[in-house]
Amino acid sequence: MLGAAVFAAFAGIAGMEAQAAEPVKIGFLVKQAEEPWFQDEWRFADQAAHDNGITLVKIGVPSGEKVLSAIDNLAAQKAQGFIICAPDVKMGSAIERAAKRSGLKVMSVDDQLTDGSGKPIASIPHMGISAYDIGKQVGQGLAGEMKARGWQPAQVGALRVAFDQLPTARERTQGALDALKAAGFPMANEVDAPQAKTDTESAFNAANIAFTKRGEFKHWLIFGMNDEAVLGAVRAAEGRGMHSEAVVAIGIGGSKTALNEFVKPTATGFYGTVLISPKRHGYETTVDMFKWISQNQPPPALTLTSGMLMTRANQADVRAKMGM
Ligand code: GLA
Repeated sequence: MLGAAVFAAFAGIAGMEAQAAEPVKIGFLVKQAEEPWFQDEWRFADQAAHDNGITLVKIGVPSGEKVLSAIDNLAAQKAQGFIICAPDVKMGSAIERAAKRSGLKVMSVDDQLTDGSGKPIASIPHMGISAYDIGKQVGQGLAGEMKARGWQPAQVGALRVAFDQLPTARERTQGALDALKAAGFPMANEVDAPQAKTDTESAFNAANIAFTKRGEFKHWLIFGMNDEAVLGAVRAAEGRGMHSEAVVAIGIGGSKTALNEFVKPTATGFYGTVLISPKRHGYETTVDMFKWISQNQPPPALTLTSGMLMTRANQADVRAKMGM
């Protein structure tokens, strides 16, 4: 009896020592490491790592191949879990399998993982933006500004920079469209500009094609999945001599891409953005993963974060309100 109790106590201590010797190691994998949003997300993840004594391994994963080799790499360095924004959400089942095989916990951020048929994988906890509502804020902002300027609806085109294969992107622009419609915008004046990739250059190319097709409009409202998409279209409009007097564009994000526009001495067509929170997406997900690993407390299955319309004029105030 006594022997067993002593053994149990000893095993307990040994277990604790093993834990103390191995700090929690977490991977943070993002699809577009060069994009300011993801750099901010990583910066806040680093802060959470610092505050909790976590070792954070940041890996850019621009392709499916890179995702799988990053997971192998994490397993080899004995990480216990990772957070991922994948380059293709339909890799969800493959990612879940690879994580399980290596004994890694996985949660997604920004882009919710799905199976091959596009159905969200409920067993992978997720934190993303409330895409449709944030899109509505974009649409309301555009409609409000159009009204304030007294533009004649017949002379206004609405350019949707589209990336419909990504659910969060589709929901964002759908929200904007629905808000424009609700504000009485003539939907026949809506023009789609599908981007091949989710970067500024692809948006620039897509917008140029759309502007050429619909040259009849004097003014444009511009929206898309993020600041980069909207900025590409703003640059394309400038190439056609349409500046802030002819264009109202509202992005989603509020990282460096937007802030760089706001510090320019003269306002550009990039009127505003809905500021979302890289702090919540980076810091909170890292802490969630830490608690899952160290206290066996799984993250909430689904967390949707909100945003606030930020313009050149109110940026300081809005950033403060969002805790940035
Ligand atoms: C997607 C986009 C990013 C950013 C995040 C926010 O991943 O590609 O630019 O908007 O969503 O969650």
